[in-house]
Order: sequence, then structure tokens, then C-alpha cells
Amino acid sequence: FEVTWNVGESQKGGYEHFMLKEISEQPKALKDTISPRIDESGNIKLDEFPTNFDNVNKIYIIACGTAYHAGLVGKNLIEKYAKIPVSVDIASEFRYNNPFIDKNTFMIIISQSGETADTLAALRLGRKKGAKILSICNVVGSSIPRESDYCVYTWAGPEIAVASTKAYTTQVAVLAMISLYIGKLRKTISDDEYTKVLNEIKSFPQKAESVLKMESEIESISSYIVNQKDVFYIGRSIDYYVAMEGSLKLKEISYIHSEAIAAGELKHGTLALVEDGVPVIALATQNRLFDKTLSNIKEVKARGGYVIAIAKKGNKEIEKEADVVLYIPEIIDELTAPLSGILLQLLAYYAAKKKGCDIDKPRNLAKSVTVE
Ligand code: AGP
Repeated sequence: FEVTWNVGESQKGGYEHFMLKEISEQPKALKDTISPRIDESGNIKLDEFPTNFDNVNKIYIIACGTAYHAGLVGKNLIEKYAKIPVSVDIASEFRYNNPFIDKNTFMIIISQSGETADTLAALRLGRKKGAKILSICNVVGSSIPRESDYCVYTWAGPEIAVASTKAYTTQVAVLAMISLYIGKLRKTISDDEYTKVLNEIKSFPQKAESVLKMESEIESISSYIVNQKDVFYIGRSIDYYVAMEGSLKLKEISYIHSEAIAAGELKHGTLALVEDGVPVIALATQNRLFDKTLSNIKEVKARGGYVIAIAKKGNKEIEKEADVVLYIPEIIDELTAPLSGILLQLLAYYAAKKKGCDIDKPRNLAKSVTVE
């Protein structure tokens, strides 16, 4: 069966689509997910989490679709701050490969609905092999949290549109808090860095608000991609993971073919696809990789591509190379995903709107894939 929500038009809160309503709810969703988990002394408190992490020597992050893209960001953060090896896998692959799992394995299962069949099956495989299971979920009491040892909920509120938006950004916020929490448990992060990164996490709601204010600028830029046959998203590290999410958003609601490519991979083949006017969304928010990504943008431009770049506010250099630049507020490289993610949600939304697509209920898709 498909999980369908009995929600009426009236519950769109005046928005044309549930998706736009849910995109707009992200500052509140982020605040509701973050604030209750920071105590009066400025420390993260996760009610459901192991008190001892000493025996954990491997983490698997398992999910599908958008939740998988959040998991990729989580890997980067946990490895950086908690210094534990992390593997991220798509649930439908993980369960049919032969993953090494034992009692020292910790699994983080991410699912908005908590009912995705492949993700639930991966959880059960891990449990059978002795792993401890933590789930990140948006539906209280759904199957996945019920079968987990621990659960850290995203407090995003009901997500009705098939295309996931506020679940994604709040999943990234939870993963960021978990990475600091484990780092503190394992003493792999200094107090100063912990405080600095936590303050950046606390800035998510207000910076998300700033991105939402770019709506009309993003809407006008979406006109360029709305009639395209293909759209490419490129980036490095966190920007690559957000490129995957932006590409999925565009495909699933506008039906425009798109592909996310690791910017460093372009010359290994996919650059052959770039010709006059081909739109390339270039994410260039990672300061430490900016020069590399800028050279990829030049490669695309030299082949006639049309580059819509996403960079951090104040970056003037990129304006010399890209056709259009959209700016996100300043934040540390590791935490750009919720901000560039919201920007790409709006880009996909307006492309789909201009095409007259059924944005909240795209063809062939269900909100929760409860069958394999
Ligand atoms: C995302 O926009 C899609 N609707 C889809 O990829 C979704 O993220 C995936 O099916 C996983 O769903 P879940 O988070 O409820 O497990």
C-alpha cells in the first residue's frame, strides 16, 4: 500500500503547493529540531544516544533518496569531528551486498517516513548481525524508530509533498549535532571547535530565512533551465552531495533529466556532454576547494556551457567566470548543505511550476516507498 496523507487543500496554509509551504517552514523546522537539544550550558543533549562509544569502530549510514544525500553530508561531519570511519550506502544496495557488521558496528538509519521498505530491511539486517541501531526519523512511532535502539527525531512536522525538503535540512542538522556529540564523547574535538561549530549549527534557522528571501531571484533564474533537455550539477565534497540532492529534486518534480557529477570527474568523460548553452549548476561554496571548482567552471565555459554558480556571499571572483551567481550566507564549509540545499529546492520548484507539473504528487512516485 502507499502511505497517503488525508490532507485537504485548506492545509496548504495559503501556499500553492505543499512543497512550497514545506520549503518555507524550514527555518522553524530547523529551530524546532536544534534548540531543544542544546542545554543551558551550551552543550548538545541527545536523550536517546549511547553513553559510551568506546567499542564502536565502524559506522554505517544507510538510507534512500534524499535521506541518503543527507547521510553523505553526515559521513563528512562524523569523520571530521568524531574520527570514526563511516560508510554511507543506499539501503537497496547495502542489504544485498555482504557488509561487514558486528557488535562494534553502529548503524545510523535515516528515513523521513520511517516506513521505507529497503531501509527497514537494512536495519533488520544490521540488528541480526549485532549492530546497535540509531534512527533519524520524522514520524514518531513509525516502524524504523520502533525497531531502533535509539532515535533522534527531526521535528520538521508532517512532510506532505512527495519531494522531501524540510526533512533533508533537519536530517543534516541532526547529523551535525551527532558528529559533535560523538566527538565530545570520544574527546576528538576541542572545546573551542565544538563551541564554534555548534554556534554555526544554531545559525541555520536565520540563514535559512535569508536563502528563502532569494525566492524571486531564483524563480527568474529557473526560466533558463525549464525547457532544457539536460541539466548538470557539479561540486566537490559537500557541494557534490548537495549537487546530488539538487539533481534529484529537479528530476522528480519537473521531469527534466539531470545528473550530479563530482566536479573533479568532468574530464574523465562527462565533459563530452557539455556543448553550447548546456546548463551547469556549479556549487562552489567550499572555500578550501574553490580554486579547483573554479577551474572546472572554466572548463565548462570553454565548451559553451551556461554556468549558474552557487557561492558564499562576498565571493566576487566567481562573477568573472559564471553566467549567473546565487549567493548563500557565510557559514563554515562543512555546514553549507542546508543553505545550498534550500536554494536548489526553490530552483527545482520554480522550474517544475513553469512546466505546469503536478509538484506535490509527481507521476510514478509515492511519498513513502513501502514496497521493494
Ligand atoms: C525525496 O525527495 C524522495 N521523495 C525520495 O527519494 C525519498 O527521500 C526516499 O524515498 C526516502 O524516503 P524516507 O526518507 O521516507 O525513507
